[in-house]
Amino acid sequence: MSVADRRRTERLEADAAGVARAAEIIRAGGTVAMPTETVYGLGANALDPIAVANIFAAKERPNFDPLIVHVADRADLSRLLTADALADPRLALLAEALWPGPLTIVAAASDLVPPIVRAGLSTVGVRIPDHPIALAIIRAAATPIAAPSANRFGRLSPTRAEHVIADLDGRIDAIVDAGPTQVGVESTVIALQPGRPATLLRPGGIALEQLRTLLAPFGGIDVVAAGELGAAPLPAPGMTASHYAPRAAIRIAQGQHSFAGLARCALLGSDRTELSKLEAGAREAGVRVVTALPLSESLDPIAAAAALFEVLHRLDAALEGSDQASAIVASPYPDAGLGLAIADRLRRAAAATNGGVA
Ligand code: TXA
Ligand code: MG
Repeated sequence: MSVADRRRTERLEADAAGVARAAEIIRAGGTVAMPTETVYGLGANALDPIAVANIFAAKERPNFDPLIVHVADRADLSRLLTADALADPRLALLAEALWPGPLTIVAAASDLVPPIVRAGLSTVGVRIPDHPIALAIIRAAATPIAAPSANRFGRLSPTRAEHVIADLDGRIDAIVDAGPTQVGVESTVIALQPGRPATLLRPGGIALEQLRTLLAPFGGIDVVAAGELGAAPLPAPGMTASHYAPRAAIRIAQGQHSFAGLARCALLGSDRTELSKLEAGAREAGVRVVTALPLSESLDPIAAAAALFEVLHRLDAALEGSDQASAIVASPYPDAGLGLAIADRLRRAAAATNGGVA
């Protein structure tokens, strides 16, 4: 994040005025660190992709991990999940027994949830936090709030406002100080897929034993990488093969070989200027361009991050049904600020397909 991005971080009290101001900032697309019962979260309007991109910018995440969307009432889920996901009896059971509380449920997302929130996955993690201030802010903002832990990448999750300030002062719009959090570890994350046992993705504030008991009549719960539980944290989905990668091969453009062996391509420019260069390269190589899209008009990592997964999906769809002689060709993204996360995501997508780096 450049010096120009520094902002004054408002300190807000955990009272009615603080809640109202926090909600106002969220509605305006800003970022607010807020208490939950587990750890402090860095919140933004979950339905506003630019606001969500600002969360990643403040945290300096080198990659986009999916975020948990926080709601105040179960009724709010009806807009966020698919009808199938909403009909899963385990959702009602767990919500009844454990919400508000430190349990995150990952289930099929509706189209309303922007791809950057889900890091391009088809699922979204949701929870109702058990903290009066968090609930009041969500209700006053009248929108679901996406919030990862309010720490910079690689640092510990914050359990006090002072931890948040040490990491994020000058990078976020406000922090609501409600004293130390109660639970101190993050929520337990489980995935629900119709017709399959629930899966534990991350141990946390709700004990596995309790989930086993509750889910016993519904096929129980599978534990991924059981050997690692309690030792190392589970790998974040951003690091695993199940993470979103386009079906089409993707290449990072690199000089004259970028289009070698291709008959057709879809182009991804870091901005309009870079897109024009790619188009010229494709023309020179005699490769047909099916679609060409920039991540933003002029270079703007925040807007580009907000658009990345959407644009990848569109390019992927444009190449659907094409044979091996087709690929998405992307200009390399400059590494500064959120650019590092974008470049990393493109490199991973390239490595996950057989296109690799041209
Ligand atoms: O207690 C908590 O969960 C805190 C408070 C602020 O709510 N939040 C938190 O968020 O710990 P974060 O971003 O640090 O961790 C969220 C984790 C991801 O790393 C991932 O493991 C899982 O939740 N997750 C979220 N959405 C997912 C999805 N669609 N698929 C798989 N895992 C997901
Ligand atoms: Mg975290």
